[in-house]
Amino acid sequence: AETHYHEFVIEARPVKRLCRTHSSILVNGQFPGPTLEVRDGDTLVIKAVNRARYNISLHWHGIRQLRNPWADGPEYVTQCPIPPGGTYTYRFTIQDQEGTLWWHAHSRWLRATVYGALIIYPKLGSAYPFPMPKKEVPILLGEWWDRNPMDVLQQALFTGAAPNVSDAYTINAQPGDLYRCSSKETTKFLVEAGETILLRIINSALNQELFYAVANHKLTVFAVDASYVKPFATNFIMIAPGQTTDVLITADQKPGHYYMAAHAYNSANAPFDNTTTTAILEYTSCSAKKGQSMKPIFPWLPGFNDTGSATAFTSQLRSPSKVEVPTEIDESLFFTVGLGLINCRNPNSPRCQGPNGTRFAASINNVSFVFPRRNSLMQAYYQGQPGVFTTDFPPVPPIQFDYTGNVSRGLWQPVKATKLFKLKFGSTVQIVFQDTSIVTVENHPMHLHGYEFYVIGSGFGNFDPRNDPAKFNLVDPPRRNTIGTPPGGWVAIRFKADNPGIWLLHCHIDTHLPWGLAMALLVENGVGKLQAVQAPPLDLPRC
Ligand code: C2O
Ligand code: CU
Repeated sequence: AETHYHEFVIEARPVKRLCRTHSSILVNGQFPGPTLEVRDGDTLVIKAVNRARYNISLHWHGIRQLRNPWADGPEYVTQCPIPPGGTYTYRFTIQDQEGTLWWHAHSRWLRATVYGALIIYPKLGSAYPFPMPKKEVPILLGEWWDRNPMDVLQQALFTGAAPNVSDAYTINAQPGDLYRCSSKETTKFLVEAGETILLRIINSALNQELFYAVANHKLTVFAVDASYVKPFATNFIMIAPGQTTDVLITADQKPGHYYMAAHAYNSANAPFDNTTTTAILEYTSCSAKKGQSMKPIFPWLPGFNDTGSATAFTSQLRSPSKVEVPTEIDESLFFTVGLGLINCRNPNSPRCQGPNGTRFAASINNVSFVFPRRNSLMQAYYQGQPGVFTTDFPPVPPIQFDYTGNVSRGLWQPVKATKLFKLKFGSTVQIVFQDTSIVTVENHPMHLHGYEFYVIGSGFGNFDPRNDPAKFNLVDPPRRNTIGTPPGGWVAIRFKADNPGIWLLHCHIDTHLPWGLAMALLVENGVGKLQAVQAPPLDLPRC
């Protein structure tokens, strides 16, 4: 195995998109940020140098970080952020993972521009479970604001209103030719007629589930979130923020120019960015004829609120063969996820621009997560510092109600707190996430740090503990690190708590995260915490 050393210099740089230039926070001046390429078993050493004017931390989304929470990255959870002028070196080893993951800032909305692909190839001597493709390309779907995204967030947090929606989606940081001043820079992918290429698709957008398709070309899905699935062919994919989907595509159409495109999948009853981003798949035999511009063919994409198509896609995801899903469950958790509104003390204050004298909030089991400031959870835990968090997170919601809407406004107001849930190391866990439909139905993509889990079932309406478990797939469910809770529905996951530490569990929609749609699991080794996790690195930032 190899060790790969990188330096990530985080710094503001001018970026021109949609006819205007903004100062954006980038890594090594690249947008998207650098692609990390490793093999399973390799070690990554990344020195993060913060030359920006914001606190920042970096997260390696989907890397398990076994016994090494110090390298995970979410600010105030496993580390204090790196202050302006500071540095921190992330050091971690890939253990039994391969496929497409990614990395991103885990501080406020900085991941709008601070993100990149993290590709794990099979160990030397082992190969993909299919013939080697001719080419591989990362496809990073993103979101762009015609403003500084940190200002968009700040304005929302200050006024308590919903933040402005984005002005464009992007493919590899370019909006593409349907947007103003963008056609010259539209991303192009060259293919030779007949060859098969691998697309590593990553949804790095802040707030939007997306539909993605390539005109006239079938996509053969073979992996999600760096876990293989039974291959299947499809005309489009649906991908939630945080997720990855690997597909093979064969250039078997009439040589020409074909658009790949992505737009929102949005079933919420709220404003959203309804624009479309494009890139071009170009057959090399056609690029020769310069000057003649060929009009690319446009793909079919499901409509914005086409929940049927989204569900039809996700229900096809299966592990390639029988997997070991925990069957005896030690901890059965029921987590309601959804929005809420907090009544303002003074409804006329400028900080109270939510609907009817309120501010927006979001919660799990009615607890709206507050990130600590004095210390990170993991550092406070390790040093035995009291008063930073409590461990009384409720395993079920305080009140059970009908989650399909129309509940009394009294249930809309979450309680702010920093609560963790304790899991015994080695225990088997089931979590059912239930969308509360409060304020609006929403697809909440739930991401668990430090773990991969099996997605054993999902459905619409209220989860029925008597009848739904009979329908769970305990044979070949897909393994993921991020799963969308269906709008107005539920999803069930299982995993074994085999990684000690404190691990954030949160909605990967960056509007919902600062509103509190998060909690953390504290997985403790009975032997005692000092033996359970590695010692913290000496340069770990302090708050
Ligand atoms: Cu992709 Cu908590 O993050
Ligand atoms: Cu959410």
